[in-house]
Amino acid sequence: MFNTGILTISDKGWQGQRRDKSGQIIRESLSSLSSSTVKYEIIPDELDVIAAKLIEWADEGGVDIILTTGGTGLAQRDVTPEATLSIVDRVVPGLTEAMRVETSKVTPSAILSRAVAGVRGKCLIINLPGSPKAVRECLEVILPVIPHAIEIIKGEVTEHKAMDSEA
Ligand code: MTE
Repeated sequence: MFNTGILTISDKGWQGQRRDKSGQIIRESLSSLSSSTVKYEIIPDELDVIAAKLIEWADEGGVDIILTTGGTGLAQRDVTPEATLSIVDRVVPGLTEAMRVETSKVTPSAILSRAVAGVRGKCLIINLPGSPKAVRECLEVILPVIPHAIEIIKGEVTEHKAMDSEA
C-alpha cells in the first residue's frame, strides 16, 4: 500500500481554461495498484511554485510517490524538469529513459519530453508529459516497477526481490 500525490502542472488548467484529464488518468491507472491518492493539485508552469510544492509534499512524510504531469517539453514555460532536478537528492534516470524509448516506438514525438525522475528523502518523484495519451502510454511502461521502487526507498526490502517476470 502506498500514498500518491498527483501534481498537474499547466497554466491553462490552473486558470480553469482546461479540464484536467491527465490527472484523472493517473488516478484511474493507479487504481489497479494498492495506492491511495492523498494529494492532488493543479499549479501553473512556474519553477518556484513547482519546486515549493514538491518540497512540501515530499517533506511532509505522508506521500510515497509524486506523479507530475505537464511542462516537460520544449516550450519557454516548460520548466517541470528543472524544478524537479532542483529539489531531488538523487536522480533515477532509467524510469524516464524507458518511458521515452518504449513509447517512442508508437509515438515518435515521445522523445521530445525532457521528463526526469528522482528521490527526495523517502519520496519518489516522476515527471510525466502533459497529454492524456502520453500519460496513459508512459504509465503503462513504469507502473509495473513502481511498488518495488517504493518498497526499496522506504527501506521495506533489504534484499533483491525477484520480480514475477524475472528468474
Ligand atoms: N510521450 C508519449 N508517450 N506520448 C505522447 O503523445 N507527446 C510528446 C511528448 N511525450 C507524447 C509523449 C509531446 S508532443 C511533447 S511536446 C512532450 O511530450 C512534452 O509534453 P508536455 O510539455 O505537455 O509535458
